Amino acid sequence: MHAMLKKASGKNIRADLENLGRFNSTPGEGLTRILFTEQELKARTYIKDRMRELGLSVHEDAIGNIFGRLPGTDPELSPVWTGSHIDTVPHAGQFDGMAGVVGGMEALRLIGESGRPHARDLEVVVFTSEEPTRFGKGCLGSRALAGDLTRDEAAALTDAGGNTLRDVLAELGYDEDGFSEIKRERGSVYACVELHIEQGAVLENLGIKTGVVTAISAPTDLRVTVKGTQQHAGATPMYLRKDALTAAARIMLKAEELARRAENVSTVATVGAVRAYPGATNVIPGRVEFSVDLRSSDLQEKNGILETLRCYMEFTALECDVDISEETVCHEHPARADSHIIQAIRTVCDEKNEPYHLMVSGAYHDSMFVARFAPFGMIFVPSRGGISHHRDEWTDYGDIALGADILAETLLRLSSETPETKETSIPSNENG
Ligand code: HGY
Ligand code: MN
Ligand code: MN
Repeated sequence: MHAMLKKASGKNIRADLENLGRFNSTPGEGLTRILFTEQELKARTYIKDRMRELGLSVHEDAIGNIFGRLPGTDPELSPVWTGSHIDTVPHAGQFDGMAGVVGGMEALRLIGESGRPHARDLEVVVFTSEEPTRFGKGCLGSRALAGDLTRDEAAALTDAGGNTLRDVLAELGYDEDGFSEIKRERGSVYACVELHIEQGAVLENLGIKTGVVTAISAPTDLRVTVKGTQQHAGATPMYLRKDALTAAARIMLKAEELARRAENVSTVATVGAVRAYPGATNVIPGRVEFSVDLRSSDLQEKNGILETLRCYMEFTALECDVDISEETVCHEHPARADSHIIQAIRTVCDEKNEPYHLMVSGAYHDSMFVARFAPFGMIFVPSRGGISHHRDEWTDYGDIALGADILAETLLRLSSETPETKETSIPSNENG
């Protein structure tokens, strides 16, 4: 059994999370830190400064992914990554994403200070814009690393103010010509292990502090537009109406019904954003735009529900005499964690006598895109009450420190693996 590293410092983790929490555009109303706004740029600077204080060499790519590197003894070998995101949804908590960045930096500090040799470089990554908040699409940095966001597609992404991602990057001095170098080829990263809060209540209900992710549910995001006829709410008899909002409501309820009836418990549907025009109490809405966020770890089931929902949209258009159109913003495939990495995390938990729970992640993460070019694993720490994407999101600093301990040991093992030693470095687990 390896000699264990020193324990992660809950004090360090708390200090970094609280310092990061200062960079907030809605103080007193939860934490809001949106891509490339003043507060997020300050948070980026804070993280880069902290990486340098830890002795890491820091660089950024052309979409703003930040890399803090702890060199290994054999730079010829592909690196091992950890990391997550520092951007948030509006009025969020201080742990979603940040726990993985701060926990990753703490893990690299432990390994660096231990003096323990590791063949492979270790890098803690801050992925740009995991949340879809500003440009309507999530995981922009990891998507570009996976080669799934070209310079032209970035140019087409536009925020509510009409700014394109390309213009925002250019104004910040990012080199547009470097966009073609962002993509990582398969095999260029040996392994990636992301620490993240669970964002649900499974671990808390089980009384277990550590989750080992087996797969990540993948989102399909639709933007649906219903066009009816704007009319007087009083003078228009029911039989003469073309009510865009009641037609939209039927589709929303159908999405909910299909997800409730689904086989796989990870299959969920959410309508989170609705706009009805003109939005007056005494006017029948003539136009409604709403989002559908459909997720599952079972792609076949998700595709089946999508097909049924689209047929139902056509039926509703006829039934309500309205026009219904739909734009697919993203349609992602579920990602399976790598069995070798899962085994590495389980071995570390066993050696620490730490119980753990194997589980599917209902939330998506940058690891879902990293999976396109590298094997990944994820370590979950508990979310109090399962609350997340909410100002009351909370994870005890001690739980994050435990997650960082397990992460550090896992990263040290993986980064010590060479082609000659991989097979013997992690004992196989008899009970599979
Ligand atoms: O929506 C998600 O699952 C992630 O938090 N962006
Ligand atoms: Mn999130
Ligand atoms: Mn997240």
